[in-house]
Amino acid sequence: MSERTIALVTGANKGIGYEIAAGLGALGWSVGVGARDEGRRKAAVEKLRAAGVDAFGVPLDVTDDASATAAARLIEDRAGRLDVLVNNAAIAGATPQEPTRVDPDTIRTVVETNVIGVIRVTNAMLPLLRRSASPRIVNMSSSVGSLTRQSGTAAESATGPVAVAYAPSKTFLNAVTLQYARELSGTNILINAGCPGYVATDLNGFRGVRTPEQGAAIAVTLATLPDDGPTGRFFEDAGVVPW
Ligand SMILES: NC(=O)c1ccc[n+]([C@@H]2O[C@H](COP(=O)([O-])OP(=O)(O)OC[C@H]3O[C@@H](n4cnc5c(N)ncnc54)[C@H](OP(=O)(O)O)[C@@H]3O)[C@@H](O)[C@H]2O)c1
Repeated sequence: MSERTIALVTGANKGIGYEIAAGLGALGWSVGVGARDEGRRKAAVEKLRAAGVDAFGVPLDVTDDASATAAARLIEDRAGRLDVLVNNAAIAGATPQEPTRVDPDTIRTVVETNVIGVIRVTNAMLPLLRRSASPRIVNMSSSVGSLTRQSGTAAESATGPVAVAYAPSKTFLNAVTLQYARELSGTNILINAGCPGYVATDLNGFRGVRTPEQGAAIAVTLATLPDDGPTGRFFEDAGVVPW
């Protein structure tokens, strides 16, 4: 088995996921670049390697059971275990997303990627994570899924536009994170949700105000928690995000 810490980042070919891979690679870790498109995956791996990262490509479509199983096999063959899984891949979904106008298929598609995709990949990777001395799972969520913030005063509720597929998918993901933490309490696996802030990426037409590198910081923090660190919590750079 490799001495190096082994991480997998889903949706690592661009945006925040790419910068999470770069950030974990800068720690000297070996980083699997999970990406569904071969060309984009290879380009990201090459760019990371050129920057000195021990990166390797992991073909992975989070909506596909066979793909998740094959990704786990690839990592097992390469490293024999997985130390850190960052579930970063997500989609915003089609418009409109006003609840009165949404196409129900938009909700199904978003939940399939943003929630079920996380469960699918996590469960495929769990046997490998259980072989790690300090396994960590980071679910990239969003404060737009915070029910507390959405129901707060206008000043508190910088929670993005009305979006009945995307925002509740992150509320759902937060709840799923908590369920995993409850089931896995008593093991050495720490699982937390992180919000990167409003980041300029494809997801929002580059309207965000933070850089992908800034957005990646919370994932790096949660990926490197000490063994007595928190689990089943939701964090942003400034601290705990209310559910
Ligand atoms: N940007 C923000 O302001 C913001 C705010 C809060 C939370 N977040 C969260 O941060 C994470 C990263 O978002 P981002 O802004 O970096 O978005 P992005 O630039 O659109 O990147 C999304 C990544 O997910 C991948 N992906 C989508 N569907 C996939 C699938 N079925 N299988 C595998 N990969 C898939 C994309 O791959 P392709 O290139 O193949 O499409 C891409 O690599 C997401 O979880 C997002 O919800 C973002």
